[in-house]
Amino acid sequence: MTKIAIVTGGNQGLGLALVRGLCRLPDHVVYLAARDRQRGLAAVRSLENEGLAPRLEILDVRDTEAVQACARTLAERHGGVDVVISNAAARIGRDVPNADQVRPFVDTNNHGTQRMIDAFGPVLNDGARFVVVASAFGTAASLDPRLRDRFDVARASAADITAVMDAYAAAVEAGRDAEEGWPAWINPPSKVGQVAATKVFARDLAEEAERRDILVNAACPGLVDTDASRPWFDDMSGAASPDEAAVDVLWLATLPAGMREPYGELVQYRKVLPFGG
Ligand SMILES: NC(=O)c1ccc[n+]([C@@H]2O[C@H](COP(=O)([O-])OP(=O)(O)OC[C@H]3O[C@@H](n4cnc5c(N)ncnc54)[C@H](OP(=O)(O)O)[C@@H]3O)[C@@H](O)[C@H]2O)c1
Repeated sequence: MTKIAIVTGGNQGLGLALVRGLCRLPDHVVYLAARDRQRGLAAVRSLENEGLAPRLEILDVRDTEAVQACARTLAERHGGVDVVISNAAARIGRDVPNADQVRPFVDTNNHGTQRMIDAFGPVLNDGARFVVVASAFGTAASLDPRLRDRFDVARASAADITAVMDAYAAAVEAGRDAEEGWPAWINPPSKVGQVAATKVFARDLAEEAERRDILVNAACPGLVDTDASRPWFDDMSGAASPDEAAVDVLWLATLPAGMREPYGELVQYRKVLPFGG
């Protein structure tokens, strides 16, 4: 049976490689979601030149209505969605003050992930796989102990995690983040928030997911050689190409029917990473 897949931030970097990998699978209709029409069209054309046939969806994950409409459209067109990869992430600059970039960063990476969960959770088909591309930096254990109970994924609601991330952004904007114990780089807190949101979604869906063979996980692709990562790492010699890194993320996003693990986990290179807390 045909499977319906969507990848956000699908026009470049890891997202484009994920779309490419899904398009190569038999019987998959793959939506390349891009926030910019020109960049999206260019990416679709580049894959068409490889003999692949992704479909374009214009989707800015900061736009709640647009994310909802996209999920509705796919559900109406196909009856539901089988593979959701929430991959989009905002770029951050080394030379830009954190206070100037934390808000759009959290809005894209964290609230964008939550918007994808809220919109696409209800339209998942039986057997669906939902993957949030996060990072190995996204463990509560890596945070200052004072901050860990803010990510209590056994008890927190999605709204709690959203509120924690808004409070984090406010702390950075007010210059209070260091005294509260947050690290200087704004990427790890955002990734912890993404993994926490994924875990809360998985927890709340657990009973239904078991019955309907749905899997929800977060993924770390490892260090990937993209325009986003290059400015942050002096040594990229160990970085995987996007196509190489996509292999294990796609493994997670296409786990065969009947597999019940991993579920609600952060997974890197096919292994579960402890979240801590
Ligand atoms: N690269 C690494 O080493 C690494 C390591 C661990 C985790 N990750 C994670 O892997 C994912 C992909 O990273 P990457 O390196 O491929 O990044 P990237 O090259 O910067 O690609 C990010 C994608 O997200 C899109 N995007 C940005 N803002 C958006 C928005 N508001 N709505 C929809 N799409 C939006 C971008 O679109 P535009 O082209 O229009 O900007 C782009 O297509 C991210 O979640 C990242 O955190 C990467």
